[in-house]
Amino acid sequence: MRRFFADRSEYLGDPDFVKVPVSKLLDPAYIRSRSHSIDPDHATPSATLKPGLAAGEGSETTHFSVVDSQGNAVAVTYTLNEGYGNGITAPGLGFLLNDEMDDFTSKPGSPNMFGLMQGKANAIQPGKRPLSAMTPTILLRDGKLFMVVGSPGGPRIITAVLQVILNVLDFGMNAQDAVDFPRFHHQWMPDKLSVERGVSPDTVALLRARGHDVDNALGLVLARVEAIVVDGGWLQGASDGRGSGKAAGY
Ligand code: DON
Repeated sequence: MRRFFADRSEYLGDPDFVKVPVSKLLDPAYIRSRSHSIDPDHATPSATLKPGLAAGEGSETTHFSVVDSQGNAVAVTYTLNEGYGNGITAPGLGFLLNDEMDDFTSKPGSPNMFGLMQGKANAIQPGKRPLSAMTPTILLRDGKLFMVVGSPGGPRIITAVLQVILNVLDFGMNAQDAVDFPRFHHQWMPDKLSVERGVSPDTVALLRARGHDVDNALGLVLARVEAIVVDGGWLQGASDGRGSGKAAGY
């Protein structure tokens, strides 16, 4: 009931005025995936539950990884920082300005919007660039392209990209398994270990027993990685199931 009222709140209205996505809402695969988010042992706080259909376009930072048939590669992460940036459009030019100033330490001792505590080295100064967590990455092996990877997600970008690379290099996963694998994140402050659903409850209990303040709330999503791994003559393209991206080959 909770899940489908959330959907009703977003998608339903007079069909003479709005396009109601009836077939998507009644798609058995969608209904199944929606029911999989139910935790039989715990109520899901409604505040953590959103309408469930994939959005056409996100409001957030975007990453794309591309490799062409010659092996040329690009990894691009671009952002306005928050949705709609600073909310101001450049007069006459039609694009929004970012609010990346929040990536600076604007007030030592106070967290920025991602909860990051930062120091003097990242203080605001004329001509200086703020620290960025954006980590568009191209890896070479023996001088040849091996992997292209990156993600949106603020500070979670750094730990997500690291884990996906480790999953491929050290754990021998293919690109999609490496991207899909449940992730964890710690950024010093707040002193909290975020752990995605999918990590076993036993592991979460062991982490808590060792003193970690574990947040593994339902719906917690740690970044959305887009990766390409060169596998012999093949390219493995992996788009993160946590988001609405796609892997495509031409
Ligand atoms: O450069 C940074 O670290 C931030 N401005 C990135 C913002 C971001 O990823 C927001 N999105 N999901």
